[in-house]
Amino acid sequence: MSRIVLGVTGGIAAYKATAIIRLLTEAGHSVKVIPTQNALRFIGATTLEALSHNSVDADLYTDVESVKHIALAQEADLVIVAPATASFLARLANGVADDLLGNTLLATKAPILVAPAMHTEMWFNSATVANVETISNRGIFVLEPESGRLTGEDSGVGRLAEPETIVETALALLQNQDLTGKHILVTAGGTQEAIDPVRFIGNQSSGKQGTAIAKAAAARGARVTLIGANISPVSGLNIEFISVRDARELERAVQEKLGTAQALIMAAAVSDFRVETVATKKLKRSVLGERISIDLVANTDILATSVARIREDALDCVTVGFAAETESEEAELRQLAAHKLMSKGCDVLVANDVSEGKVFGSDENSALILAKSGIEVTVTGNKTKVANAILDILIGL
Ligand code: CTP
Repeated sequence: MSRIVLGVTGGIAAYKATAIIRLLTEAGHSVKVIPTQNALRFIGATTLEALSHNSVDADLYTDVESVKHIALAQEADLVIVAPATASFLARLANGVADDLLGNTLLATKAPILVAPAMHTEMWFNSATVANVETISNRGIFVLEPESGRLTGEDSGVGRLAEPETIVETALALLQNQDLTGKHILVTAGGTQEAIDPVRFIGNQSSGKQGTAIAKAAAARGARVTLIGANISPVSGLNIEFISVRDARELERAVQEKLGTAQALIMAAAVSDFRVETVATKKLKRSVLGERISIDLVANTDILATSVARIREDALDCVTVGFAAETESEEAELRQLAAHKLMSKGCDVLVANDVSEGKVFGSDENSALILAKSGIEVTVTGNKTKVANAILDILIGL
C-alpha cells in the first residue's frame, strides 16, 4: 500500500478525480485529496471525502499547529495532480505556494505526476508550453492530455487522459526506474498486407505482449517508441506511438528510430510475404470465377536487417526476436528457438508455443527466453510479468 496525495485543480474535468480515487483505493492505496479552492466549485468535498475515506481540506490556515503541508509532503510516496489547469501549471512552474496543494508540492520529495486538461488553444499557448517544459525539466512527470471531446461542442487536444491511464502511469512511478535514460523501440501487433482496397493477408497477433513490454519499459523509466501494427493507440508517459499497417511501413518506422535505441524488441508478427500487385479496385467474385491465385513476394526480414545495421554502424543496441511456434514439446520448442536465435543474429529470443490457439489475444503467456549469452529462462504468467522478465534480461546485457 502506498500513500498517495491527489491534487485536484479547478477545471471541468475535476469530476473525473472521483474515478481516479476509486481506482487508487481499489488497488489498495491510501489517498489524501487536496483540492484547490477552485476545484471545490466543480466537485464537492463530501464526494471526495466519501470516496477517499479521508478528510479533505483545501485550506492552508486550519490545523496550523500540525504543519500539515510538510507532514503530507513527507508522508507521500507519490503525488498526482489531475486535472491540472493551465493556471495551476503556471503556478507550479514558478514555485508559487499560496495554498495547501502548492505548499505540499514544493515540500515533497516524492515523484509528482501532473495530468493537464484544458482547451486546445490554452494547451498550445506558448506560456503553457514553456511552463510544461520548465516543470518537466525539474523532473515532474507530465501526462499529456488526449485528443477528444472538450467541454462544449468542440473537440481537440486537451482532454484529460483517461483515469485508467493516469492511475497506471502514476503507479508505475512507484517502481524501480532502472531503465531511465534508455530509448527502447518495441514493435507490436500483426501486419496486414493488402490484396485489394478491402481485403488483406493478416495474422492472429493481438499486440498485447508487445504493448505490455512497451508499458513495462516506460514504467521502469525508459523512453519508449511503440510501433503498432493494427492495434489501438497506446498512450502513457514516455510512450511515443507510431501506427503502421504493413511490413514495409513497419520496416521504415524501425529504420527511422533505430539510430537512437538501446534496444529493439520485435514482438510484432510481421508477414513474411506481401501481395506482388495490389488491386486498386475491389476484386469481384463474378469476374474472378471459382479459383484464383495471388502472387506473393518476400518482405525484408526486418529483425535480421536491423541486426546487420547495428553491427555495421556500431550502434549500441541489443535486439530481441520473437518466435511464435506450434511445437508444444518443450525440447522441440527450445531447439527451434535456439536455431532462430542464431539465424536472426539477435541477442535474445522469446519463444512461445501458440498451438491450439494458446497465447494469441490472451492476457496470459508462457515463454521460453534464450539469450546468446547462454541465459535461459522460462516464465509463465500475465504478459506484464513476461515483459518484465525480458527487460530484466536486457538490463543484464
Ligand atoms: N520478423 C521480422 N521481419 C519479417 C518477419 C519476421 O523482423 N519479415 C521478426 C518478427 O518480428 C519476430 C522474428 O522475426 O521477432 C521471428 O518471426 P517469425 O515469423 O517467427 O519467424 P520467421 O523469420 O518468419 O521464420 P518462420 O516463418 O520460418 O518461423
